[in-house]
Amino acid sequence: MTGTAEGIAELRDVHVTYPGRSEQVHALRGLSLTVRRGEFITVMGPSGSGKTTMLNLIAGLERPTSGSVCVNGQNMAKLNDTAASVIRRRDISYVFQFFNLLPRLPVGENVAIPLRADGIGVAEIRRRTRDVLEKVGLADRIDGFPDELSGGERQRVAIARALATNAGLILADEPTGNLDTRRGEEILNIFRDLVEGESRSIVLVTHDHRAAAYGDRMISLRDGQIADEVAGKHRGADVSDFPGAG
Ligand SMILES: Nc1ncnc2c1ncn2[C@@H]1O[C@H](COP(=O)(O)OP(=O)(O)O)[C@@H](O)[C@H]1O
Ligand SMILES: [Mg+2]
Repeated sequence: MTGTAEGIAELRDVHVTYPGRSEQVHALRGLSLTVRRGEFITVMGPSGSGKTTMLNLIAGLERPTSGSVCVNGQNMAKLNDTAASVIRRRDISYVFQFFNLLPRLPVGENVAIPLRADGIGVAEIRRRTRDVLEKVGLADRIDGFPDELSGGERQRVAIARALATNAGLILADEPTGNLDTRRGEEILNIFRDLVEGESRSIVLVTHDHRAAAYGDRMISLRDGQIADEVAGKHRGADVSDFPGAG
């Protein structure tokens, strides 16, 4: 790891502007955020406030119009494609909002995707795959296909895939949006354990204030900026008055 002691991801005065039909869309307007090691950040905000854009920037899937995005101390915009894809694979796990499972691959193969490129042996891949599917309660579906699963089960496969590697930074876009309360809490507890037991960092987008309260810090985005920030319940805060609560 070449990062600074503190920040695994650092966004500095980031602007993202998309060309629109009549006028430009400002997805992010001067966003600055440091994600520390072992920190669980939850992000709320209305639709269109820039949440997914922020995750995509950290993941190196998009580039800022201005400002900088560093992961492990490396400026994502200055890396060549190979170096960026290595960071994406080794250091970052991304649970996409719409899962991004490959329909022709069995569940186990989908989960194993991030493990394939790193020369890990077949038996070890199978063991880790089974392990993470067990964690999300889907070990018995390892040889099934995504289209045999419900939306909630697909979401849990996407989560399992993100848990399969030892990535220090997990990005998750509404990862519990399709899960019932009990399953959602199980997943959030798995995330908390990763933060507390393994000092991993998590940035999790959610519409559910109870899910947001699992974070160490809850950030509220509005119009591409941080509108509010409060401590989560694991920092002892009363989260009932957080914007979006209720
Ligand atoms: N590829 C794109 N092209 C044009 N506009 C985009 C694109 N991606 C996002 N936007 C716009 O940027 C704003 C922020 O989008 P997004 O980050 O997806 O918000 P959120 O995830 O909070 O709903 C929205 O107005 C959205 O329409
Ligand atoms: Mg979004």
